Amino acid sequence: MKKVGIIGVGEYLPEKILTNADLEKIVDTSDEWITTRTGIKERHVAAKGQAASDLALPASIQALKDAKINPEDLDLIVVATITGDMPFPSVAAILQDKLGAKKAACFDLSAACAGFVYGISVAQQFLACGTYKNALVVGVEVLTSVTDWQDRNTCVLFGDGAGAVVLTEVKEGGIISTYLGCDGSKVGILNLPAGGSRLPASAETVKNRQHFLKMQGNELFKIAVNTMTKAAEVVLAQAKMTFADIDLIIPHQANARIIMAVAKKLGIPEERVYLNIERCGNMSSASTVTALCEAVREGKVKRGDVILLDAFGAGLVWGACIIKW
Ligand code: ACO
Repeated sequence: MKKVGIIGVGEYLPEKILTNADLEKIVDTSDEWITTRTGIKERHVAAKGQAASDLALPASIQALKDAKINPEDLDLIVVATITGDMPFPSVAAILQDKLGAKKAACFDLSAACAGFVYGISVAQQFLACGTYKNALVVGVEVLTSVTDWQDRNTCVLFGDGAGAVVLTEVKEGGIISTYLGCDGSKVGILNLPAGGSRLPASAETVKNRQHFLKMQGNELFKIAVNTMTKAAEVVLAQAKMTFADIDLIIPHQANARIIMAVAKKLGIPEERVYLNIERCGNMSSASTVTALCEAVREGKVKRGDVILLDAFGAGLVWGACIIKW
């Protein structure tokens, strides 16, 4: 098997910013509640008409430039998203055309907040066994398009954005270990009820606000802490490493309290945890990857560093990954 690593990163956040003060004008909430309960201060919001592929494009162009490869060199595009441009075709197909990546095989992957970790794990398999040479993995969401702006329990949490990485064979370092999991018995606590084959769109589903994301956040909180802790332990055990070997943990950014509880359980000091939740909120599939891209750009991930990605979301699904940079 070939060693596979990330050779280019890129991210894009829409221009418009929605602050907690803005939200105070929309629902019965306060900056104080949102900040203390979640760690979020503001989030980016896609402009009207700006769809997932529009966010994925600049992130992908930046990642390709960083990797110093051309779109025509891509063999595979995997887009992790739960808010694609439309139910079908895939964002990956639309992105392929926008990029001019004519020879790439393309598909989307639905694993909510664990989508990017699932995505790099899937792409790694194609590259490690030699089927493909270069892959682009994107995590992108326009979550504000499925946010119920009348529901204060959820509308304060989410934001829009995109991150992209280029994967290829590397001589040194690369992906050391990945671990993916799912518990499908808890679909009911986080989902978007209508618009699929179970409840096709109708006047009634629209009236009942069933095209918006529904979440029992309180129930998820404890599960998220325990699952992310366990996922990190499993992936480290697989790699025969300990937490002392990890330079930076880049977790899914659902709630700063969840992240800090996980870090505490794992015995990882705060300064080795990367956070962008304060500026971005929860961007589901786009969270872990944009955090990774920002950390690299800010010089917080350097050559030789070992990083741990750890994510959890609707499914319920989870994934963890150790990468030597
Ligand atoms: N402003 C003010 N008050 C609020 C708000 C708000 N925006 N939202 C809820 N409240 C109120 C509630 O109504 C409740 O009031 P009550 O006690 O009078 O009933 C009170 O605050 C406490 O509500 P909780 O839900 O218990 O608050 P909690 O501390 O659990 O925080 C939160 C809620 C932030 C959602 C948290 O539970 C959480 O982060 N959960 C995990 C989310 C997660 O991991 N999701 C998975 C990934 S997302 C994906 O896959 C797309």
